[in-house]
Formats: sequence, structure tokens, C-alpha cells
Amino acid sequence: MRIVQIGTGGWGKNHARVLSELGVLCAICDTDRKRSKEFGEKYSVNHYESLDELLSSEEFDGAFVVTPTSTHSNIAKKLLELKKHVFVEKPLTYKTEEGEELLKLAEKNKVILTCGYIERFNPAVGNVKKIVKEKKYGDLIMLEFHRENRMPLHIKDVGIIYDTSVHDIDTANWLFDEMPNVVFARAGQIRHEHEDFATIMLGYKDNKVAVITSNWITPKRIRNFNAIFSDARISSDFMTQEIKIEKQEQVEFIEGEKKEPLSIEIQSFIDSIEGKVEHIVKAQQAVNVSKIAEAALLSSQKGVPIYLDLK
Ligand SMILES: NC(=O)c1ccc[n+]([C@@H]2O[C@H](COP(=O)([O-])OP(=O)(O)OC[C@H]3O[C@@H](n4cnc5c(N)ncnc54)[C@H](O)[C@@H]3O)[C@@H](O)[C@H]2O)c1
Repeated sequence: MRIVQIGTGGWGKNHARVLSELGVLCAICDTDRKRSKEFGEKYSVNHYESLDELLSSEEFDGAFVVTPTSTHSNIAKKLLELKKHVFVEKPLTYKTEEGEELLKLAEKNKVILTCGYIERFNPAVGNVKKIVKEKKYGDLIMLEFHRENRMPLHIKDVGIIYDTSVHDIDTANWLFDEMPNVVFARAGQIRHEHEDFATIMLGYKDNKVAVITSNWITPKRIRNFNAIFSDARISSDFMTQEIKIEKQEQVEFIEGEKKEPLSIEIQSFIDSIEGKVEHIVKAQQAVNVSKIAEAALLSSQKGVPIYLDLK
């Protein structure tokens, strides 16, 4: 198995570490000469500053695209055209039409296209998903997410909905196991050039709902979620991965072994290339998340709910 990585910035440095530990990283590319050299030397792999140069020199099976959102589409397209399996960091593309184009190309060339909705691989979310499936506490009725932190200055191409809320949009779709039919959002901007706070309400069938609150204002890192079932309330933290289950008088805590979601996510992509049946984010699901994010942005601008009919 030979894997290449495009983009070794703030987030990509983690992929390079995991891929190197797994012994599959064969080359990296970063348009920043310093970074490309630093990571190439650190992990003893070939390094390039141009994707075209990498493509003409390297033989490989799959690629990770960990560059800014606005560049995902062009890079992923080149890789898919060469029939490579591709993992694109979230969100899949800036424009949903570009995502649909990539999806068609991957289907045509019979290769895997997936997207970095990492929270599905968070053991805390995995445990809640299991509870939902087993109907241990009845039906899942409502989800509530909080993802807050002081503004990341380096993100220039998108606002908080495309950058941050998308994680919780995907997790909500995953836990409800369906797509929302309506989106309503309020969003605003204080410091960033794009929106830096947003509250999104996703409506699913039978009045089930997910409320997603994200901001780049709170001067503290908060990442948690609550799930209301017909017979219990579950609260969890994405970072500690602890789960608290409350019933009438009873409180139960689940503290599984803490694992790095990124390692699980990367391993799943590699396993799926090798044909082992593993869970990965389907390209259609990633396109849907972008469509929902787009609808949320539009809803916040127009002040009206946006009705959706997603696959
Ligand atoms: N899943 C997560 O939790 C998570 C967290 C952070 C970021 N991300 C995603 O990861 C991606 C990268 O984010 P980041 O924070 O690492 O950004 P970053 O700006 O820190 O790093 C991007 C890197 O890509 C390089 N680059 C830019 N254009 C390139 C090109 N055309 N070819 C090759 N290299 C190029 C830059 O030089 C830089 O080193 C984004 O899509 C972001 O949304 C995901």
C-alpha cells in the first residue's frame, strides 16, 4: 500500500504522522517549500512542491488531500482522473456542484472517494450510535451540539458553517441515519471576514431535530453534544470521549478506552482500499453535508427556512 499526502499544514501534520506510523506514506506535496522539505525529511519520503510533479514521479494507490477547502476540488479531480482512491478533508468541496462532479468521477473510475468527517470515528459518537441502533433507551428524538473556540486566524477561505458546523451536520445525519428535510439558521460576523457564529436547526422526519451551535468567539475550546432519547438523556464530550447517561434518578458513566479518532479514520480508509469491509463516509453523504451547509448559509442570509430533498 502506497499513500501520498497533499498539504501538510496545521491539520495535515497529523495525517503525515499517522500514515508514517502505519508505514504507508510514500510521498508528500506542499506548495510551501519549507513545509514540504520539513515533512519529507522528517518521515524520509519523497517531497514535492507541485502536485503535477508528484503525479508524474510517484506510483501510489491512494491520496489524502489536506489543503484549504477552496483547493480541494481541483486537486481531488486530478487524482480521481488517474484512478486513485481519494480521501479529502472536510468539507468535500466549496461548491456542491464540484462535489457532485467528483462523486460521478469516482463512480465512473470505480475508486473510493471519502471525506474527513472525523467525529463518526470518535469512540464517544460510536458508543452513542450503538445505543441508537440497539434502541437501548428508546428512540433518538433530539440532538444538540456545541463547538466553540476563539477564531482560528489562518482560515481565510470559508466561514464557520463550512469549516466547523459541518462536523456536527454529518454527525447528526449519521446518528439519525437519515437526511434532514428542512434547515433554518441564524449566523453573524464579529471578527472574521466570513460568518463566525451560527446556530443551525436541522429538521428530520417525525419532528426530530438537531440544533447545532458553533462559534469562533468563546475564548475556550468547547466540543460537546447531548442526545435526548425517549427514555434517557445522554451527554458527551468529543474531547474527553466520556458519556453520561441520565434516567430519572439514575446516572451512569461510560468511560471507554480513549482513542485518536484520526488514526481510526485513516485506518478505515486504508482497510477499505484493501477491500476489507470497513465503515467510511460515503461521497454522497459528504455532498449532502455541503448542500446542508449551503442551505444553512442561505437561510441565515434570507431569514427563512430552506426545504431540502436529499438523496
Ligand atoms: N477533520 C478535522 O477535524 C479538521 C481540522 C482542521 C482542518 N481540517 C481541514 O483540513 C484542511 C486543511 O486545513 P489546515 O488547518 O491544515 O490548513 P493550513 O492552512 O494550516 O494547511 C494547508 C497546507 O496546504 C498547503 N497547500 C495549499 N494549497 C496547496 C496546493 N494547491 N497543493 C499543495 N499544498 C497546498 C499549504 O501550504 C499548507 O501547508 C481543510 O480542508 C480543513 O477544513 C479538518
